[in-house]
Formats: sequence, structure tokens, C-alpha cells
Amino acid sequence: MLSPNDPTLRRRAAAVLDAAWREEGFCVPNQETYPFQWLWDSCFHAVAWAELGDERGVAELESLLAHQDASGFVPHLTHWADPERHRTFWGQSMLSTITQPPMFGHAAAELVRRGHDVDESTLERVERGLRHLLVDRPRTPAGLVPIFHPWESGCDDSPRWDHWRRDDASVAAWRVTKGRLVDALVVGPEGVPIGSSEFVVGSVGFNALLVWNVRELRSLGVGDELTSLESELSELLADRWDPERLTWIDDGPTDRGSGAATSAFVRTADSLLPLLVDHRPEALSQLVDDRAFGGEAGPSGVHRDEPMFDPGTYWRGGAWPQLTYLLQRAAREGGDAQVADRLAACLRFGVDESDFAEYWDPSTGEGFGACPQTWSALAICV
Ligand code: GLC
Repeated sequence: MLSPNDPTLRRRAAAVLDAAWREEGFCVPNQETYPFQWLWDSCFHAVAWAELGDERGVAELESLLAHQDASGFVPHLTHWADPERHRTFWGQSMLSTITQPPMFGHAAAELVRRGHDVDESTLERVERGLRHLLVDRPRTPAGLVPIFHPWESGCDDSPRWDHWRRDDASVAAWRVTKGRLVDALVVGPEGVPIGSSEFVVGSVGFNALLVWNVRELRSLGVGDELTSLESELSELLADRWDPERLTWIDDGPTDRGSGAATSAFVRTADSLLPLLVDHRPEALSQLVDDRAFGGEAGPSGVHRDEPMFDPGTYWRGGAWPQLTYLLQRAAREGGDAQVADRLAACLRFGVDESDFAEYWDPSTGEGFGACPQTWSALAICV
């Protein structure tokens, strides 16, 4: 079993990040599959760079926020050297028109905690990014901050979005659905998404990350005015807990009776992210219970009893390193050192076994998806 601070794991993580580094100041998640800059990936890279004591973490946070617009919106994708690549798809060059979980509050806090200097203007951008989501997005009926596209959750093909899928769960069928949902975006006068004619979901995972990122920024003494918004939102989130299914429930289609319409109830690991802000032992224990989400190589992305559980298929049950990292943080901050240590060991095992894959089998660590994938470097941060 690999111990925390294992020197070989650290060297391998540093080599993966180093090979992925681009002169504009960021890492591509994978050179072939993901040759651009992604929002939450860059935040995770910044955390890993910070752990390595490498100044590139600050540069990566700055490059991520370089294309933030006046409203505070941060695009989920920046194409940098290949600006026209997806122009037809997004209807504009260089940037996508959707966002991703605003992990920049956590990235800034980790950088500062590990002794790096994050300047005032970067912290101000982080604050504006969080404020934009809290204030400018019209709320869902339950008062949550909506996402307007499955990709905004970061959990692209999650069964939580099956309600909108018109075909099978193959990656190709999903691509068609996601193109349709980009067309459904409603863009406001400032050019940022303010709605969708099809997909408006109060994702509990996304909202938990938003609240937690505000708290992380607040830990640096910045973003005072966001405090009341953050605490209101965390109370609304607490109301989404379902004691029967032992999950938080999205503000989305909640017809318990009929198959596809139950998306909001499907038990997924990202829907347990509210653990970051609401420490419920009965939610946490599922992560290390192998009849629920537990596995040697980390929690499965989908509860093992869900009919669609399929660990080898993209977002349908594999263990995802960035989720394991976040859930491990939740356990640590919630004061459950035993679960936190266990999740940390599982993450190291999965990364080692899969050789830094994008995601892997939660039981065996067999790697799937892109490899190496930079966010696996998070294994040195737990
Ligand atoms: C996949 C993931 C998304 C990630 C991107 C780049 O699309 O679903 O969360 O940001 O890859 O790694």
C-alpha cells in the first residue's frame, strides 16, 4: 500500500503535469483527448502544483481566469492555440458558452495555505466568478443555483441527466443530446448563459461545490458580502436530503414513479458532494461500504444497486479521482479521520493501479478513458 508522500507517486505526478504544461500557463488534461484548458481541471492542477511547491499553480489559476468576462462568468473551456476548433459548435471562437463547478475558490485557498502568493486582482476575479453564479443566475423553484447544461456539472454523462437523453447511453448518443442542449441555451445581453429552453437543474453537487468554494475564499478573508448568500444556499441544500434513498436530490424532474423521469433521485457520488457543507455520517459511510459506493480503488460514481451501474462506461459507475479527492476532503473536514484516511488510500491505489487514468474500476483500479489524465495528480494531495 502506498503511503502519503510516497516519493515515487510524487515524481510520477510531477512528470504527468510537466508533460501536459502549455506555455500559455496551463495543463491540458490529456494531450490527445483533451488538448485545451478546462475550468475545474485547471483548479485541480493548481492544487497539485501547490502541493509540489511549484509556482505554476498560481500561473494556472491566472490563465484560467484570464478570459473571465465583465459579469464574472468563467467559460468551462478555453481553446488557446486552436481558437477556431469548436467555433461552429459554440457559435463563437476560443471559449465555450457554459461553465463548470467553480473550483477556483478552493484552488486559491490551497495555494495560499501552501505558501504561494495569490495577488489581489486574482482573488477579486475569484470573488466575481462566485458572485456571478450566486447573483446573476435566476434561481430554480427550490431556490438553488441552476446549471443549464449537463457539462456544467463536470459529470458529463451522469445518469442524473438521463431524463434529457432521447437515445441509448452510448457516448455517441450523449454527444447528440449535448449538442441539442447547447442549442437550447438562452444567452443574455452580456453573452453569458442565463437559461435554457430545455435543461434547468438545481444540481445538488454543483450547489455544494459553489457553497464550499465561497467558504474557501472566505477563509482568506475575501468575499465577505457573499456570506449571507452562501448560508442561505446551504440551508436550501440541506432540505434536499432524502433519508430514504440516502442521497441529496436535485431540483429537477422528480417523478418517483416512472423510469427515466427519476433522474434527480439516481444515487451518484457527485450527489453526495453536499457532504462538504453538511456532515451527515449516514451519507459518508456509504462511500466506504462495498454494498453501496465503496471499492478498493475509491467510491463508484454510481451506487452499485442502481440498474445502470456500469463501472467501465464513461460516467456510469467508474471511480473518478477528482470526486474521491473532494469526498475525502469532506470526510476530513467533517472530522471523520478514519473514512478520510481510507478514501485517501483508495485514491492512491486507484491512481497507481490505473497508471494515472481519467477514471477506473472502483473495485480493481483497472484504468478507463484518457491516460495519463492530469487530475490523477490529486493523489499526492490527500
Ligand atoms: C470530461 C469530464 C469533465 C472534464 C473534461 C476534461 O469531459 O467529464 O469533467 O472537465 O473531461 O478533463
